[in-house]
Amino acid sequence: MPEFTASAAAGRVERHSLRVPMGSPPTDVVSLAMGEPDFATPEPIVAAAITALHQGATHYVHQHGDPELRSALAAEVSTLAGQSFSDDQLLITHGASAALAAAILAVVDPGDKVVLPEPGYSLYGDLVQLAGGTPVFVPAASDLHWDLDALRTALPGAKLIVFSNPCNPTGVVHSKEELVELAAILHGTGTLVLSDEAYSAIVYADGAFHSALATDDLRARTIYCQTMSKTFAMTGWRLGYLAGPADVIAAAARIHRTFNGCVNAAVQRAALAALAQGPAAIDPMLTAYRERRDVLFDRLADIPSLSAPRPEGTFYAFARYDAPIRSVDLTARLRESGVLVRPGAEYGPSGEGHIRLSFAPDIPTIHQAMDRVAMSLKEIT
Ligand SMILES: Cc1ncc(COP(=O)(O)O)c(C=O)c1O
Repeated sequence: MPEFTASAAAGRVERHSLRVPMGSPPTDVVSLAMGEPDFATPEPIVAAAITALHQGATHYVHQHGDPELRSALAAEVSTLAGQSFSDDQLLITHGASAALAAAILAVVDPGDKVVLPEPGYSLYGDLVQLAGGTPVFVPAASDLHWDLDALRTALPGAKLIVFSNPCNPTGVVHSKEELVELAAILHGTGTLVLSDEAYSAIVYADGAFHSALATDDLRARTIYCQTMSKTFAMTGWRLGYLAGPADVIAAAARIHRTFNGCVNAAVQRAALAALAQGPAAIDPMLTAYRERRDVLFDRLADIPSLSAPRPEGTFYAFARYDAPIRSVDLTARLRESGVLVRPGAEYGPSGEGHIRLSFAPDIPTIHQAMDRVAMSLKEIT
C-alpha cells in the first residue's frame, strides 16, 4: 500500500470542522440529537415513487432536474418571491446538502471571505473550507437573533453570507425587518446571500416567516436553498433545490453534475406528488411538533441549570447550561447517562455553553430523555 496523504481540501475540512461524529449509539440510549422528523413520509409520496419505478423512471434524467419538477418548483418559487423565476433559475439537487455544496463551490474562490452568523448549521463552515475560503464567524446577539452591528462590521469585502432561516440550531426565525436591514447593509456591494430555508414550513407563529426571496432588496443577490427533507419527512430521499440568478445557478449546476450527476429519477417524480400535497402534508406534523415543544419546555422549566428561548421555528431548542464543562464533554457525559444531544460548540464558537435538544422525537421519548438530562445535570452542577 503506497503511503497516503489526504488532499489539502480533505485536510482543511478535517482540521477545521466543528462537527462532532456521533458514532454508533450504545444500547438503551434515547436520542434528542436527531435532525429529522420521526414521521413516515406521507403515503401518496411513497406511492408516487413506486408507480414511477414501475413506469420506468429508472434511467438517467436531465442533470439540472426532471423538467416537470423544475417547472413546478420554478412556479412555487415565483409565488414565494412575487416575481417570475424561469426554469433555468432552478437546479434540483441531492438534498439541501448538495445544494449548499454546489452553491458555495460555485461562488467561493480560495481566500474569499464568507460571513457565517453563528450559532449556525455546521455544514456551512466545512463547505467554505472545502472551497478554500475563509469563514468569518459573527456571533449572534444575546436573544440569538443577528447582531446587525457586528454583521455591518464583518460584511465589507465578503463574497458571500450564509445562514439558515429558521435557524438550526437556535430555532430563531429572522424577521422581515432583520432581512430588510441586511439588505441595507449589503446595498451597493457584490456580496451574495445564500439563504437556507430548509425549515421554512416548521414555524409556530402565523406569518412570522419571511423568505429572503420575498425581500425586495435582497432578491437579486439571493441564492435560495430548499429541501423536501424536513417539510415532507423525506430526509432519506435526498431531494433539494437551489433558485437564484441564472448565471449563479449555471455555475452551481456545473459543480453539482461534477459531484453528483443527475438526481434519482423516481424520487423526482415523488417530489411532484409532495408538491401536490402542499401544506396538507405538514399540518399534522406541525401540530405534533408544537405539542412536543410545549412538553420539552415544561421539562426545561424544572431544570434550573438549563434555560432556552422558546424556538419560533424548527424542532430544536438551544439550551444554555450553567455548569463548568465544555459542551462536547457535557454531551459525552449525557451519552453515558443514556441520552444523546448535540454540543453547542458544533454550531460555532458562541455555541459553547449550550446543548441542542431536538423535539422531533415523540413525547414519551422526550420525557425519558429529559429525565436523564435532569438527573445527569444534577450530578454535575
Ligand atoms: C439548516 C439545514 N440545512 C440543510 C440541511 C440538510 O438537508 P438535506 O437533508 O436536504 O441535505 C439540514 C439538515 O439537518 C439543515 O438543518
